[in-house]
Amino acid sequence: MRSHILGSGFYVPPRVVTNFDLEKMFETSDEWIQQRTGIVERRYVDEGVGTADLGYQASLKAIKSAGLEPKDIDFIIFATLSPDYNFPGSGVLLQDKLGIDPIGALDIRCQCSGFLYGLSIADQYVRTGTYKRVLLVGAEVHSTGLEFATSGRDVTVIFGDGAGAVVVGPSPDPERGVLSVYLHSEGKYFRDLWTEGPASILHPRIDHKMLDEGRHYARMKGRMVFTHAVKRMPEVIHEALGKHKLKVEDISLLICHQANLRINQFVAQALGLPEEKVYNNIQRYGNTTAATLPICLTECLEQGRLKKGDLLAFITFGAGFTWASALVRW
Ligand code: ACO
Repeated sequence: MRSHILGSGFYVPPRVVTNFDLEKMFETSDEWIQQRTGIVERRYVDEGVGTADLGYQASLKAIKSAGLEPKDIDFIIFATLSPDYNFPGSGVLLQDKLGIDPIGALDIRCQCSGFLYGLSIADQYVRTGTYKRVLLVGAEVHSTGLEFATSGRDVTVIFGDGAGAVVVGPSPDPERGVLSVYLHSEGKYFRDLWTEGPASILHPRIDHKMLDEGRHYARMKGRMVFTHAVKRMPEVIHEALGKHKLKVEDISLLICHQANLRINQFVAQALGLPEEKVYNNIQRYGNTTAATLPICLTECLEQGRLKKGDLLAFITFGAGFTWASALVRW
């Protein structure tokens, strides 16, 4: 039995923050941001709205698009690097918001790869018959953790808030559904894209000195991440295609993680895929980390870009480092 994506939805907060808005806060320019990343604007939450709230809105849409009701969901997987609270995870908050039975809720911490790590888990649960309707959510509130100063501008300009969700269940057709998910990580690079504190390895977890030094903000060696991303992303899709004896030409639609438009252009070129087969929306939302892939998927479905039988490919790369690919016969 294969699993399949039975429905999807996304939600982004209504507040649009343009590159011009950021220009007013620190030294940057619309020209620099667009040229280096492709981003034009992103969304930020208003005070009082958390990661689980975004996930809840996306989930309602995904459940509805699967023709289901919240009570039909029998397991939740919540992927985020920005949970509402340090603990418990946002999955239980979502379970409560949905007002459903006390089903299990699993939080995973795989950053930009969170959605594909989650898809792999959901796929296994469905294949083994453990669960039938798994709600997989990727949601992030980055805006409350960004440094709005010149010292943090490389990171701050690329991130946005948002959520995407899918319902994974048994495929109605054994030929269609999730073909495979390949997952990788290389922990020796964990400090090249991370937030140092608060951290349980530190005594205390955070202090005034760390706050003054801005060590509670995400830090990234951008060039280094870029170099690894453009190598690993083509590699992991070839790994998946090879396993199924498929070729790049067989891909109908490629959805890449949205960290930088230049990364995705580079990946498409390296694979030899024409532009019309690659979907990008980073221009409007920036990098929404675990939310990115289900947001892109939902937009593609809304635009009629996927037909029954198409080969859909996902690729991602992010902090950890972690990276992954998935092939889905739509
Ligand atoms: N506005 C204006 N100037 C800037 C900005 C900014 N926002 N950010 C950096 N600069 C300056 C730098 O200070 C530097 O100036 P200098 O030459 O005077 O020293 C210059 O621009 C070049 O800086 P670089 O960091 O080398 O710029 P680069 O071209 O590498 O672009 C970027 C930076 C956009 C961050 C890019 O490296 C990138 O996208 N990297 C990959 C990001 C990624 O894939 N992340 C993974 C997913 S995120 C996750 O998993 C959580």
